[in-house]
Amino acid sequence: MSTNITFHPGSVDAQERVGLLKQTGVTIWLTGLSASGKSTIACALEQHLLHLHKFTYRLDGDNVRLGLNRDLGFDEKSRVENIRRIGEVSKLFADSACIAITAFISPYKADRQVARELHEKGGLGFIEVFVDAPLSVVEERDPKGLYKAARAGTIKDFTGISAPYEAPENPDIHIRTDECDVTVAVEVIIEYLTKHNYIS
Ligand code: ADX
Repeated sequence: MSTNITFHPGSVDAQERVGLLKQTGVTIWLTGLSASGKSTIACALEQHLLHLHKFTYRLDGDNVRLGLNRDLGFDEKSRVENIRRIGEVSKLFADSACIAITAFISPYKADRQVARELHEKGGLGFIEVFVDAPLSVVEERDPKGLYKAARAGTIKDFTGISAPYEAPENPDIHIRTDECDVTVAVEVIIEYLTKHNYIS
């Protein structure tokens, strides 16, 4: 635990940074079951925004767990810490005027709310996107064979099977990936960003 720490402000304030870089930072927080389509949408969205010359960066659960969060497992305490760190990291990205795209299961409502409040307290936008597909559909997709392993009991604490997923009740954007393809999903998010003046 750090003590005797004082926040040191920069010489350029948030508004000036946005003016100089001509871009407003925001976090687009994708939440949903494993294999619901979060990473696919995140990649396509990042590509689309980069082609619009927007400063964008993607934080993906599997990738971040290979580095920054490699000390964390999948028990409840580890997932809470995973999401706490990603809330903080994405806030830093958004504060730098970046469009941060996060793709984490983030199964607990309370943790997603903490990430939202952290952003909003800092005057930063937080867009919760529920990447939704029924368990039967994601289990059928099972690209990494993890659902099969979870059913067989060789993976424990697996979201949707042996660990909870608390779906958002009122997400900013709700995408049913069993009903639309990735192009439509990206269009819906881009429309939202435009409507709310994050991009023009
Ligand atoms: S979270 O619940 O803490 O937000 P996160 O998004 O970082 O999870 O990681 C999820 C990814 O880890 C899944 O897409 C899957 O590939 C892998 N994984 C491995 N074990 C588990 C597990 N027990 N539950 C869920 N995902 C797991």
